[in-house]
Amino acid sequence: MRLEQADCLAFLGSLPDGSVDVIVTDPAYSGMNERLKLGNGRIVGQYAQKGTEGGKWFREFQDSEENYRQFLEQCRRVLNPETGHIYIMFDSYSLLSLGPLMRDYFAVKNLITWDKVNIGMGHYFRRRHEYVIFATNGNNRKLRHQSFPDVWRFKRLHRAAYVTQKPVELFQAMIFASAEPGFTVCDPFMGSGSAAIAALKNGCHFWGGDVAETAVTLAQTRISTFQETGQDPLQPKPANLPGEKIFWDKL
Ligand SMILES: C[S@@+](CC[C@H](N)C(=O)[O-])C[C@H]1O[C@@H](n2cnc3c(N)ncnc32)[C@H](O)[C@@H]1O
Repeated sequence: MRLEQADCLAFLGSLPDGSVDVIVTDPAYSGMNERLKLGNGRIVGQYAQKGTEGGKWFREFQDSEENYRQFLEQCRRVLNPETGHIYIMFDSYSLLSLGPLMRDYFAVKNLITWDKVNIGMGHYFRRRHEYVIFATNGNNRKLRHQSFPDVWRFKRLHRAAYVTQKPVELFQAMIFASAEPGFTVCDPFMGSGSAAIAALKNGCHFWGGDVAETAVTLAQTRISTFQETGQDPLQPKPANLPGEKIFWDKL
């Protein structure tokens, strides 16, 4: 387990070439919040204080094409050429602006839809889904099974401990599909550490970074509690619908 408070480029830059098997990440894109101004000022009002001491919102990655290309370049370098799989999450804004750049660095295999079950913010149709681009580092390594679907249904977390905390199941789906136990999984925008919990549940090593001290402290406490008790203090309940099996339950 390696956790660091660092900018994503510095964090990835500190990792050796080819040292990671699977990247799963949920970057803090600036485009949607800066340009679409969703939420009628409720969140946007606090959003204006992003990155400040005590502010609810964290600092975002400035998602210019130049910055994003540097990020993708680092992801490609650290991924193992033979085993490397990568999952990057996108909102509907960043999918159209930055998503296509992934083809310049990786062999893009599919676009997965995360159905969050309950609607969120949005002026023109309330948002109920996000995307995940799945790609390989040019290798032909398969998923663990050919039966996994490309629409995943997990309830969004309501009033979570961390502002953009995602369900652990979302990362479990990525890691279960792509990682063998003992693989190294990396998340350079780890937030509260949901991907770390998912990696541990799949018997993988985890390397995570986040620019915010609050995120790293929260993730550290969450991970140690999970290691000591087997309980996840930040997501005590599963995010799948009652009675609905997840694809790894069906194998
Ligand atoms: C969308 S959140 C990730 C949430 C996480 N998936 C979870 O379930 O808690 C994005 C994270 O990126 C971090 N971040 C913003 N800019 C960053 C940068 N330049 N480098 C690394 N982390 C950054 C933020 O502090 C935030 O915790």
